[in-house]
Amino acid sequence: MTTELTKGVHCVGVVDWAIRHFHGHELSTHRGSNYNSYLILDEKTVLVDTVWSPFADEFIANVRSLIDPAKIDYVVMNHAEPDHSGSLPALMRLCPQATILVSKRGMETVPGHCRQDLNLQPVSNGERVNIGQRDLVFVEASMLHWPDSMFTYLTGDSILLSNDAFGQHYATAYPFNDQVNQDELYREAIKYYANILTPFSKLVAQKIKEVVGLNMPVSMIAPSHGVIWRDDPLQIVRKYQEWAEQKPAPEAVILYDTMWEATRRMAEAVGDGLAAEGVRFQVFHMAVSDRNDVITEVFKAKAVVIGSPTLNNGVLPTITPILEDLRGLKFQNKVGAAFGSYGWSGESVKLIEEHLGKCKIPVVSEGVRAKWQPTPADLEACRTLGRKVAASVKSA
Ligand code: FEO
Repeated sequence: MTTELTKGVHCVGVVDWAIRHFHGHELSTHRGSNYNSYLILDEKTVLVDTVWSPFADEFIANVRSLIDPAKIDYVVMNHAEPDHSGSLPALMRLCPQATILVSKRGMETVPGHCRQDLNLQPVSNGERVNIGQRDLVFVEASMLHWPDSMFTYLTGDSILLSNDAFGQHYATAYPFNDQVNQDELYREAIKYYANILTPFSKLVAQKIKEVVGLNMPVSMIAPSHGVIWRDDPLQIVRKYQEWAEQKPAPEAVILYDTMWEATRRMAEAVGDGLAAEGVRFQVFHMAVSDRNDVITEVFKAKAVVIGSPTLNNGVLPTITPILEDLRGLKFQNKVGAAFGSYGWSGESVKLIEEHLGKCKIPVVSEGVRAKWQPTPADLEACRTLGRKVAASVKSA
């Protein structure tokens, strides 16, 4: 199925209702995803981005429903990750004469993923290519989120084809932002930002400023995942500006794992301390929680309080991945704390605190360690820790 955005501009991508994990198994996609590709019919015929290879046949059938693929003059690869370049080899067999326009870094990444000879032509930031009644204008967007990333702007219709930026992993029956559930849309948009774009927040802010400074009208923002923003399209740009500032809400996330409920009881006592000070919090047992959903909540909140018993002189293995996320995502403007039970060596709290330090998340108070099951005094220490975290959250 295809969708006409404006006269001669069609979405020829596919909806992936079934996918539940993306980037291998790194990112959960509870609401599926889609891979948007755009066909522009002018004096020249242009295809912007392809789709993931398992959907190549469906994608090419979509193109064929509108034109003979042999008529394609330009293929724009805004970004080479396989969810966008995967069907490029199959497409190029049908239009071998077409020129593939890529960013300078795309000269390395596109052949690096496709591993075949391709007719590539680099385009630079601000370069225009006339396609008849309209121009394509290319905007480098390096590290949003790969070195090769770029946007393509279509003059005349004023459509920004933004590839991954402003996207969501959100399979929908309808393609436009005003046609879907707004709560679901923004849950997926912020999850996408928190888990993928947060480390590049400074660049996001700079790039938005630069693009806004070009004073180009924008009637639609058409990303390569999720819905197309046609109703107040700049609303998602304003949200990205807000998210890039990383000004978290005065709330807390407590995340923990537990072996015999001791650390769980401590987590809940920390929550009691937060509640006593009127600070909202959520508690996540990491063994049964989705890591990417928890990261999204951590992104939104001022405080992250982490609990683990000690196992084999370390933390429980279910805690390690989210510690690694905290390091890699480089969250700003947070505070943290740690707690956990132990039987003999008891390193977990110190290890978590050291890790928070490496993540530049200041520890607001010395963590609480409880030997075996927590005593009433240990639980009171946890409540005190919660109150101290609350004070830090409120003072920010
Ligand atoms: Fe949607 Fe970076 O790929």
